[in-house]
Amino acid sequence: MEQEKVLVIDFGGQYNQLVARRVRECNVYCEIYSYKTDLEQIRAMNPRGIILTGGPDSCYVEGAATCGRELFEMGIPVLGLCYGAQVMMLVLGGRVEKAPVREYGKTMVTVDNTSVLFSDVKQETVCWMSHFDYISQMAPGFRVTAHTADCPVAAAENREKNLYAIQFHPEVLHTQEGTKMLHHFVRTICGCGGSWRMDSFVKDSVLAIREQVGDGKVLCALSGGVDSSVAAVMLARAVGSQLTCVFVDHGLLRKNEGDEVEEVFGAHGPYQLNFIRVNAQERFYKRLAGVTEPEQKRKIIGEEFIRVFEEEAKKIGAVDYLVQGTIYPDVVESGLGGESAVIKSHHNVGGLPDCVDFKEIIEPLRSLFKDEVRKAGLELGIPEHLVYRQPFPGPGLGIRIIGEVTQEKVRIVQDADAIYREEIVKAGLDRTIGQYFAALTNMRSVGVMGDERTYDYAVALRAVNTIDFMTAESAEIPWEVLQIVMSRIINEVRGVNRVFYDLTSKPPGTIEFE
Ligand code: XMP
Repeated sequence: MEQEKVLVIDFGGQYNQLVARRVRECNVYCEIYSYKTDLEQIRAMNPRGIILTGGPDSCYVEGAATCGRELFEMGIPVLGLCYGAQVMMLVLGGRVEKAPVREYGKTMVTVDNTSVLFSDVKQETVCWMSHFDYISQMAPGFRVTAHTADCPVAAAENREKNLYAIQFHPEVLHTQEGTKMLHHFVRTICGCGGSWRMDSFVKDSVLAIREQVGDGKVLCALSGGVDSSVAAVMLARAVGSQLTCVFVDHGLLRKNEGDEVEEVFGAHGPYQLNFIRVNAQERFYKRLAGVTEPEQKRKIIGEEFIRVFEEEAKKIGAVDYLVQGTIYPDVVESGLGGESAVIKSHHNVGGLPDCVDFKEIIEPLRSLFKDEVRKAGLELGIPEHLVYRQPFPGPGLGIRIIGEVTQEKVRIVQDADAIYREEIVKAGLDRTIGQYFAALTNMRSVGVMGDERTYDYAVALRAVNTIDFMTAESAEIPWEVLQIVMSRIINEVRGVNRVFYDLTSKPPGTIEFE
């Protein structure tokens, strides 16, 4: 049976992935495509509905992102959001102009409850606005369905043609009833049944992989991170002992992480797969000795990783399939979906496929968002503490230590980080903070402990809230929690006499501390 889907047409707005996630939360499968996608291609995908995202431009300027009138004439329901709403109006004969009053932030919107989109929505509802242009004249056939004090057309619709325009952002959680509105669009207006569920995704994928692989041999590079773990377990479910997982311990993992990965995937774990742990710590430390420049560290770690993996792959010999834990944001960000220009090539250990003799790549998580990968992981029976693991960069602690990486510094940052994470969990903050970790500065300074003068390192604590990891703000951690972490680190971790909290947002900082 064909999977029913909704397409998100991306005009370069910052919330494009958020829109798709919210649709999937309504149990409707959804994919992101650039506004440049050919109309025939869109038609061929047979979508139940189309959502146009926001965008950074003014839609009336020369060369602005737009779409053809035909998109609105295919008989497929279309919902335009913010810029998408303005494009819809402009293309269909309305007018968009610079607004006399720019609206930004939480705004009270008055809605017309006779619109299907707003049925059961409070008549006065808080929505997230972010626009400098406004719809000054609707296209023929449309009627206003919402307004604010400053915005006469906060929403409009042509019910007969199933076209809906919303000036605010229902996908952002600040829009208090936004999910309900999106639910009305995809489930009621588009008529989607809501069959996209992780349990059926896992079951179907396992069967499909089993069929694809037959009695072939499969190889997986396991990092212990969420994505590769879920991919590996899915493959293990499908083909069991035909799968070999190679786990390279580069000595830059978090405290006890190598052993935890081995516990789950190794010989004594619940999965009947072939697990090879390569303890390559010494090799990595040797190559990193004396290196201080962050990019060079990344390069060395990446190259050495491939070398180690290659040696193992040679021992295993030719395989039929190589498993990769690519997830949907990777696909969108590498320019294959959407309009997003951000390419995080440095984020993945590059070159892996080239060093393995294989016929085909299997990417079982290619269509999933991170939270869906986690749900799939739980569905597959992976322990919660692995499934809800923090994002962790491929080069590991190598890029959380400023200056030269040594075994001693790795020990310090591992111990400090373990204390920090433990206290954050104890304070019940672990699921609310986007990403948090300890890093080691290269600064040593004088302190006093007991009666002794010390000359030790300063640890930096980082914690950020972020929607998409492209931008981030430092998280507000209660002072008492920071104090406990500070005093525990200084008391328990030899070599540390100061603790800093990093307040920097991204930009101008990055999330990692390198
Ligand atoms: P930055 O530091 O670029 O980090 O603001 C954004 C997000 O990406 C993660 N990150 C990486 N992930 N390999 C990865 O798999 C990498 O080389 C890498 N560098 C950064 C970082 O942890 C954050 O979640």
